[in-house]
Amino acid sequence: MCGIIGILGQSAVSGRLIDALRRLEYRGYDSTGVATLDDGHLERRRAEGKLKNLEVRLRAEPLSGDAGIGHTRWATHGKPTEYNAHPHATERVAVVHNGIIENFRTLRHGLEAKGAKFASDTDSEVVAHLVHSYLLMGYSPQEAVKASLPQLRGAFALVFLFKGYRDLLIGARRGSPLAVGYGDGETYLGSDAIALAPFAQGISYLEDGDWVVLSRQRGVIRDANDAVVTREVLEPGGASFVADKANYRHFMAKEICEQPDVVGRTLAHYVDMRTERVALPIKLPFDFSNVRRVTITACGTASYAGAIAKYWFERLAHIPVDVDIASEFRYREAPLRKGDLALFISQSGETADTLAALRYAKERGAHTVSVVNVPTSTIARESETVLPTLAGPEIGVASTKAFTCQLMALAALAVAAGTERGEISVSEERKLVSALIEVPRLMGAALASEPQIEKLARYVAKARDVLYLGRGTSYPLALEGALKLKEISYIHAEGYAAGELKHGPIALIDENMPVVVIAPFDGVFEKTVSNMQEVVARGGKIILITDAKGAAESAIEPVATVLLPDMAPTFAPIVYSVPIQLLAYHAAVIMGTDVDQPRNLAKSVTVE
Ligand code: G6P
Repeated sequence: MCGIIGILGQSAVSGRLIDALRRLEYRGYDSTGVATLDDGHLERRRAEGKLKNLEVRLRAEPLSGDAGIGHTRWATHGKPTEYNAHPHATERVAVVHNGIIENFRTLRHGLEAKGAKFASDTDSEVVAHLVHSYLLMGYSPQEAVKASLPQLRGAFALVFLFKGYRDLLIGARRGSPLAVGYGDGETYLGSDAIALAPFAQGISYLEDGDWVVLSRQRGVIRDANDAVVTREVLEPGGASFVADKANYRHFMAKEICEQPDVVGRTLAHYVDMRTERVALPIKLPFDFSNVRRVTITACGTASYAGAIAKYWFERLAHIPVDVDIASEFRYREAPLRKGDLALFISQSGETADTLAALRYAKERGAHTVSVVNVPTSTIARESETVLPTLAGPEIGVASTKAFTCQLMALAALAVAAGTERGEISVSEERKLVSALIEVPRLMGAALASEPQIEKLARYVAKARDVLYLGRGTSYPLALEGALKLKEISYIHAEGYAAGELKHGPIALIDENMPVVVIAPFDGVFEKTVSNMQEVVARGGKIILITDAKGAAESAIEPVATVLLPDMAPTFAPIVYSVPIQLLAYHAAVIMGTDVDQPRNLAKSVTVE
């Protein structure tokens, strides 16, 4: 979603603004822009589409100036055109915004009535005009921002640059993240640490309601009550990361291939390899024996990790689990009681709906545990307990390695819950943990199916619709497989529980419809075989993902069988994710889509 950068530099900033925007591209965007203080005047360059269009514009019409702001916009209000691109500006102030100003219509009408001339369809432009209206009344930039912020409803991260103020940037945060960076005689603002990576020697994360006034030498942070506050300055850990595809064509390909490593790293964080027992990195502030119910809330791919974990918690720990997508949960008035366990899963840790669901659960006194990939994120900071995934920065918009790392952390947690509740014995725990220890190696073996999957992807890429089927934990994985394919290849796909086939989707089956069946040889394999026969009987073309036993017992003739190594079925979804991701990836490459930044999608969804 929208990316923000602001720099008060010692030298011209426009090149560095572009560098920072490049690092923010992964969030998903459809237009870009920068503004600098050129000889004291606000100058802007903006462009529709990708960053390279802005670079072309800047080559033709360069910008000087050692103070500037930049933005990648993911359209919410108004089309992704140049005139809607940020920064939005009046003669005296320019602003970049991430989030949504919910009351922009009312504010806009009021300002237009006083003579303000709007040039875009966005909600964001109203912020520039509002601040400008106070500047006209003789307010200083600080006073103008201070007077404006309480009038804005909704979620925002904002950065302001003012005409005639070479040593001033003002940032504000409510709902959407904003980080302050400190360098050598320079200061910065950015929507995440990755944006500030090459510059900042220290980073502070603004808390909700904070706003900051920056000069090159210092930042004064005030909280929502206007009290000056200090926010810890952290080493820019994630900031050392360089967005590098290595020798891969796409970040997504790299991230798929990294999985044996990062899932292994996550595993090592949660189990003691020597004793083959779960060893959580943090003591939980509750005992699983007292937990009556678990509520899992997340969005997108993370919600499918939760849906798989439901099977594990119920089977291994006998705890009833509800899984909800956060946008529904937060408004559903779900009854939660003190002592219930509310689990949140998020790669970015910033997803607006998941964050709102977390706050809802906290208000009701539930224990909140979050499984997050960005340890400095808002969800991580606001949760009672954080269980990190150690996937490293995930740049491809479609989640891959974060998903399998989430599964690994959740598997360990479910085993811990089973042991603590006395539902599994220590020797069963050891068996499960030793199965988990096998997972990274098995994922490596699954990656070997890539050449075969690349060929299959040519077949899938010709289809208009694709069906994914699975039972048990393979069912949520079928949902994830379908999501992955539609996200990046734009081919319509549906995931279904194999047993539900006859209640609807069977009507779609004909000889043109590839049906991907995810079926490790597990306790429900035979049932899935019956469903495959129903597909074959109607001319459907099956791509079967299974193991040697499954292939031998399937008694059907699929178009292709992707053979994965034998493994303990409980944690098979972590390994079976690999061919699912590869299939979507190669189909997208064949379709020629923008794999890492698919159209209309954002990596970090900070609006609801
Ligand atoms: C977006 C991303 C998905 C991700 C979802 C949830 O839609 O494109 O890949 O699964 O948000 O994001 P989170 O950061 O909360 O896991």
